[in-house]
Amino acid sequence: MATKIDMAKFAKFCKDMGFIFQSSEIYGGINGFWDYGPLGVELKRNIKDAWWQDMVRNPPPGPDGQEIRMVGLDCSIIMNPKVWVASGHVGGFADFKVDCLKCNSRIRADKVFWLQISHGFKIYPLIGSIEADSRTDAADYFGKNLFKLTKKFNSPQDAIDAFNQGKYRVIDAVELYHEDLAIISESAEVEVTGVAKFASGQNGCPVPGCGGDLSPPRAFNLMFKSHAGAIESDDNLVYLRPETAQGIFVNFKNVLDSSRVKLPFGIAQVGKAFRNEVNPRNFTFRSREFEQMEIEFFCHPDESMKWYQYWRDLRKRWYSQLGIKSDYLRPREQGKEELAFYSIGTTDIEYLFPFSDEPQELEGVAHRGSYDLTQHANHSGLGEKLAYFDEAAWMADAGQRTTNAFEQWIKTANPSKEEIEKYKFYPHVVEPSAGADRFTLAVLCEAYTEEQVPDAKGNLEPRTLMKFHPRLAPIKCAVLPLVNKDGMPEKAMTLYRELKAEFNVFYDDKGAIGRRYRRQDEAGTPFCVTIDGDTMKDDSVTIRDRDTLQQRRVPISQVRDEIRAALTPQ
Ligand code: GAP
Repeated sequence: MATKIDMAKFAKFCKDMGFIFQSSEIYGGINGFWDYGPLGVELKRNIKDAWWQDMVRNPPPGPDGQEIRMVGLDCSIIMNPKVWVASGHVGGFADFKVDCLKCNSRIRADKVFWLQISHGFKIYPLIGSIEADSRTDAADYFGKNLFKLTKKFNSPQDAIDAFNQGKYRVIDAVELYHEDLAIISESAEVEVTGVAKFASGQNGCPVPGCGGDLSPPRAFNLMFKSHAGAIESDDNLVYLRPETAQGIFVNFKNVLDSSRVKLPFGIAQVGKAFRNEVNPRNFTFRSREFEQMEIEFFCHPDESMKWYQYWRDLRKRWYSQLGIKSDYLRPREQGKEELAFYSIGTTDIEYLFPFSDEPQELEGVAHRGSYDLTQHANHSGLGEKLAYFDEAAWMADAGQRTTNAFEQWIKTANPSKEEIEKYKFYPHVVEPSAGADRFTLAVLCEAYTEEQVPDAKGNLEPRTLMKFHPRLAPIKCAVLPLVNKDGMPEKAMTLYRELKAEFNVFYDDKGAIGRRYRRQDEAGTPFCVTIDGDTMKDDSVTIRDRDTLQQRRVPISQVRDEIRAALTPQ
């Protein structure tokens, strides 16, 4: 996707083609929930399959050229609620939101922005507010609408000049609220509670035409709640998991005991996650129900930075290999102020979606230290039973001890904490956490192409096509008899039956061949195989390439290998 696309037009295209539908659309839909249509479900399945194949079944060698061990899990969505206390989600998994006291809209506080221009000693009144994805997008909007927005100022041209000289700041609702409080209490450390409203008289609510007063930013836990069992009480309160990761941590010991994997190794899971997002937006980008593809990679603490680097590089490369142009991909190391308190480092792999001027997160690769295992060890009461015993390190030092029984050694040799941790410790974790729906959206945006191509008479006509990587394309090949006679349909049907045993293929004998090609272009089918008069004579067919429009003649017996070759991971 080289240029911006009209998201409304794009969403309509996705609906018309059967990629993505609004959930329960006949009842007016439901905000933040989406369904995948016949083509969409194939696309998303191919994405998850490619991830599982490339990350779990056949990951590339590790940083020192060694094979790496990956295993999978499929955990329940509802878990013991203590999991979410231990993980910190009950206490801290919250966004700040503001409520409009006039139109009752509820908006994420870090997505509401104002502009403040200063000129010499003069500070102009706040302009705005608007709702935007990022500060850059907000600044962009303010820049484009400056003339209109500064109209009411006494000296609008001075304000415009000051803006053009960079003498301005874009401030969000959380920052503004803290500044208001700081003025009231002369302390920026005040809790975000206790003030009935703010932003009044300074263009409060960003909903077009409203401008009402806003409530102070309030923390809003993002976990969906339910009850397990017949009685709705606090005793049987449960949560829909907000991430798949915790299922992996709580099964760490089960996996160790059942698979006898040794460090370093990874556990992977693909599955649904639920977050009661304050403002679901940008099509499927921020939904309330979505799928994650997560890996927890366990390693020795001394080697963790090496593995962090490995996963950052590998995950970015994976997106490029599946057709995301590197210009639109950006790995961004989070600043210290953004990091979770336990995280040693996190890199967001971002993609320049067409709805924003700033790249947005596709995946986070986080170095989580030993935080999660330690939390579960403490909260479950299992303690060091959740730690890893490094048998190889223990046996390597066997000659230096009087006993080879670890517990006996602790009792008799009185080793220091450091000596014990040489053999028994909580591994460090590197977590590449990707969104299956976000990547599906990125793939759709990237593939969407409008161009002019010559028709049979050489006149240019518009064509819309989806330039999917063949591995991800919902349909791999269309089999098309040129005409519905002379034995062509029978020949085509034989080929179709042979191919569909291995790939998702489509048989189409309806309409002019040019129209059939266009339909496949819109579906993103990389190959169209046509059975024509020559096929009946010499068993050769044409293979048409979706992107170049070129047609090659190949023996019919070669078609399956041609498709296989295009689907082989690089
Ligand atoms: N276990 C770590 C974790 O869940 P996260 O950054 O909150 O980290 C990981 O989520 C990925 O899940 C994101 O990079 C994104 O691709 C996807 N994701 C998160 N929230 C989402 C939402 N509301 N809608 C769609 N995808 C989402």
